[in-house]
Amino acid sequence: MAHTMAGDFFMDSIWMNISLPSFPPLEGDRKTDVLIIGGGMAGLLCAYYLKKAGVDCLLIESDRVAQGVTGRTTAKVTVQHGLFAHTLLRRFGAEKGRMYLEANLAALERYRELSKTIPCDFETKDSYVYSIDHPQKLEEELRALDQLGFPGEFVRRLPLPFSTAGAVKLRDQAQFHPLRFLAALVSGLPIYEQTAARAFHGKTVLTDRGRIRAENIIVATHFPILNKHGAYFLKLYQHRSYVLALENAPPVDGMYVDEAEGGLSFRSYKDLLLLGGGDHRTGKDGGGWAELKSFARIHYLDARIAARWATQDCMSLDAVPYIGPYSKNTPGLYVATGFNKWGMTSSMVSAMILADLVQGKKNPYAPVFSPSRSIWRPQLAANGFESAMNLLRPTAPRCPHMGCALRWNPREHTWDCPCHGSRFTEEGRLLENPATGDLPQKKDVRSQ
Ligand code: FES
Repeated sequence: MAHTMAGDFFMDSIWMNISLPSFPPLEGDRKTDVLIIGGGMAGLLCAYYLKKAGVDCLLIESDRVAQGVTGRTTAKVTVQHGLFAHTLLRRFGAEKGRMYLEANLAALERYRELSKTIPCDFETKDSYVYSIDHPQKLEEELRALDQLGFPGEFVRRLPLPFSTAGAVKLRDQAQFHPLRFLAALVSGLPIYEQTAARAFHGKTVLTDRGRIRAENIIVATHFPILNKHGAYFLKLYQHRSYVLALENAPPVDGMYVDEAEGGLSFRSYKDLLLLGGGDHRTGKDGGGWAELKSFARIHYLDARIAARWATQDCMSLDAVPYIGPYSKNTPGLYVATGFNKWGMTSSMVSAMILADLVQGKKNPYAPVFSPSRSIWRPQLAANGFESAMNLLRPTAPRCPHMGCALRWNPREHTWDCPCHGSRFTEEGRLLENPATGDLPQKKDVRSQ
């Protein structure tokens, strides 16, 4: 395998080489029925469907739209979120489990419908979740899928360069080019870029460009930026994962994901094979691109790395996103977060639910995704332990979000927070929230 990685630690994904429409910053104060904060896929789809419904709305984005995790997805649009049917059934029962799958199927169908008029390399593909050595997990999943009314198929032989125990296949899922899709979707939407939300005063949001008074506010900022309500700093943690785009590697027909945590994923885009994996909790060690490179070196001898990128996902306590009212005490404030690496369908589910809720309509899927559901899951203790350890660790620099000790990430030359996943450049510039500002001393933070 040829090595052609550039020295740039923040390489863009293959999707990010197309130009998106640009939008002006907000100038002065505004009033609106619905304010959406965050210009990723979830916020943009909310804006699209609200505008289509004739609702007065506007969206603000602190940078440019679709330059965060939306630009770094692998863009698999599938109901099959790992071997999740079995977990859904055990954790939530048959009715809620079925509703989860139905919501994601409805999301897939909305993408399919939109892609009829939006050229976005949309392709109907089967999805597969494979297991290296746990055939019984595949059998359990097939039984659970049957019970929930989404029959899957067992496939023994896969076009992957290693042996497996087989896979569970769901037919007629999809993959696409997310930024080609958005380039068309966002045109004409009421969007203000370079406009950051700085504070909430009831239903007024202070931005660095003016105040916005809104009847309803949707926070779609990846990690929710308002700490005071909803306890999202307890309910979420973040994961980093890595992608290599390989030229001259055999393509795969379909989308393939390992059931095991830390496993690999595969999909093709045109003549590139997108190899994903190397995951770890943000601020911790993990395989990263090195793991993917060694895999490619062994299995794809003639391949060349055309691009590489990393992304970051918010993980909820029970692997179901938080979509709905921000908290019980904040009427008119809504949230969409915790997509657990399934950002494309979860963004569309968010738009389906939140567009209804802000119009005072009921949505059949809302109870499944309610952010106020029980937090008593084992992951809560793990998140609490991690925060306590890093709050007590007496090293600098500290994270401006809640004061945890930051860790130096030599792979990407960033300061990463193990508590909730904020990230900063070497010079201290904010890369990923929930922190909302740079490190205090932009120069020489490594010498603190
Ligand atoms: Fe919360 Fe760093 S992201 S303390």
